[in-house]
Parts: sequence; structure tokens; C-alpha cells
Amino acid sequence: MSPYTLLLYGSLVAIATSGLFVISGVILIRLGYRDYHKAAMLSASMFALIFVILYMIRSSLFPHAIYTGSYRALFLTTLWSHTLLSIVNFPMAATTIYLAVKKRYDRHKKIAPYTAGVWIYVAFTGWLIYFFLR
Ligand code: HEM
Repeated sequence: MSPYTLLLYGSLVAIATSGLFVISGVILIRLGYRDYHKAAMLSASMFALIFVILYMIRSSLFPHAIYTGSYRALFLTTLWSHTLLSIVNFPMAATTIYLAVKKRYDRHKKIAPYTAGVWIYVAFTGWLIYFFLR
């Protein structure tokens, strides 16, 4: 397997794992498991970080793939919404975790559903972009 393929698949696995941990974390808190919720969300953050590192290495070493298919408008909408929300997701996640660690759960509960929603959207569209570019 080439270094490019390794970096690409590694980042795809990392972003999917991160998204699945967020979904698990939401289910766990709904079921009342606070400690497991915390562990799931911190694991989601770790995998998001791994994704960013692998993505940055790949972007700095290899050129970006170009979309040549016939759904250009849909592709660009997906790509731009994914990119913008992935940037927004970072301060949202940091704030959500900060509020939880400081035990300000009332404020954590207000922002957390948005953070979880944006996070899951970014993970899902990350995979979508991969399929567009295949
Ligand atoms: C970015 C990461 C996180 C996300 C996306 C997130 C998401 C959520 C969501 C969706 C809820 C349910 C809100 C509701 O009831 O409507 C929640 C509640 C909660 N979260 Fe998080 N969470 C995150 C990180 C954490 C961390 C790191 C901790 C612990 C240090 C934590 C502790 C809690 C607790 C204790 C509740 C229940 C609050 C209550 O019902 O009074 N969360 N979180």
C-alpha cells in the first residue's frame, strides 16, 4: 500500500471512528451513563485530532484530488459546508468540553446538541467527499 493510500484510509477510519464515538456519547448520556459519555466524547476528540494530523501530512505531501464528475454543484456545496463546519467545530468542541470539565452542565447541555450535530455532519460529509472523488 502506498503512503498516500495509507494516509487516506487512516484519515477516513479516524473521522468515522470519531463520528461513531460522538453518536455513542449522545446515546450514553440519554441512557444516563455520565462517565461513559465523558469517555466517548474524549475518545471522539482524540480521533478527530488524529484525523487532522493525518490530513495535514497528506495535504502537505500530495496534491489534492480534483472532482471531474457531473454533480459539481452538489460536490462543491458538500465540500464547502464540510470545510466551514469543520473549522467551526473546533471552538464549539473546545467550549463544550470546557463547560463540562468546569461542571457548568446547564450551559454544556445548551451548546452540546449543536456541537454533536455539527461533528456528525462533518464526519459524514468527509466520507461523502471521498466517494465523490473516487
Ligand atoms: C465535545 C464533546 C461533548 C459533546 C458533543 C457532548 C454532548 C452532550 C449532549 C448532547 C448532552 C445531552 C444534553 C441534553 O440533555 O439535551 C450532554 C450532557 C452531559 N455531558 Fe456532554 N458532551 C461532550 C463532552 C462532555 C465531557 C468531556 C463531559 C465530562 C467531563 C460531559 C459531561 C456531560 C454531563 C454530566 C451531561 C449531563 C448534564 C445533565 O443532564 O445535567 N460531556 N453532553
